[in-house]
Amino acid sequence: MFSWLNNNNQSEMPEKKELDPDNIPAHVAIIMDGNGRWAQKRHLPRVAGHKQGMNTVKTITKAASNLGIKVLTLYAFSTENWKRPEDEVNYLMKLPVDFFDDFVPELIANNVRVNVMGYTDQLPQKTQTAVANAIKDTQDCDGMVLNFALNYGSRAEITTAVQTIAKSVQQGELKPEDISSEMISAHLMTAPLGQYQDPDLVIRTSGEERISNFLLWQIAYSEFVFMAPHWPEFTADLLNQAVYEYQHRKRRFGGLTK
Ligand code: IPE
Ligand code: IPE
Ligand code: MG
Repeated sequence: MFSWLNNNNQSEMPEKKELDPDNIPAHVAIIMDGNGRWAQKRHLPRVAGHKQGMNTVKTITKAASNLGIKVLTLYAFSTENWKRPEDEVNYLMKLPVDFFDDFVPELIANNVRVNVMGYTDQLPQKTQTAVANAIKDTQDCDGMVLNFALNYGSRAEITTAVQTIAKSVQQGELKPEDISSEMISAHLMTAPLGQYQDPDLVIRTSGEERISNFLLWQIAYSEFVFMAPHWPEFTADLLNQAVYEYQHRKRRFGGLTK
């Protein structure tokens, strides 16, 4: 990893790196981490970090769309995040309402289509309505897909898929030996993303280097870039740096490099 990826000080960044327009990762997935620590460092309540993080989502959505990324998946709330204090959870549940209220016209202007994956039926009614409206309002956009993982957890996702497939076997519609890797993929929440279901690049901010139950099946051959800045201070420039690093990796998929 390049040392400047872990450098918070923008003034020490090297000059802007040129990206290869023919090697932009089609699916970029981001674990947006560090909102709480960003706020606490400034003696603000944790929710102030979530609010600032929402502004970062707007910036990065536009930057990703301009780069030609096809799918931007953002991990917004995990199935484990319900463990947090009620006030914080309530705030996080209201954020999509504020976000879409404000940002849907810009999404449409940028030709960005909203998709949401996760156990959305467990979200508060207002959140569900905001999500459903955003999906409907952007359904004709055919540019980048902005895919929110909201009440998403990969173990739950895989468990649900296994249950569905097991029912087909039980009903005699399917033989166990006919279960394929493609069939499993087709039962996951990323299936609607078609050829872009598996992320090419996964970015995690805030310096933590773990997956936290995110897209466990789909990341089999993803490239990982871990970066020190917290999500509220993430910038288009940092996204470019992650893509630059991606472009200098050699993806082998188990084979040999040409
Ligand atoms: C990421 O920031 C946002 C969510 C998980 C909802 P955190 O809230 O996890 O911030 P830290 O990791 O505690 O700093
Ligand atoms: C992962 O961050 C989930 C999201 C970014 C939504 P967490 O902050 O919940 O992960 P852990 O608890 O540090 O592993
Ligand atoms: Mg965190």
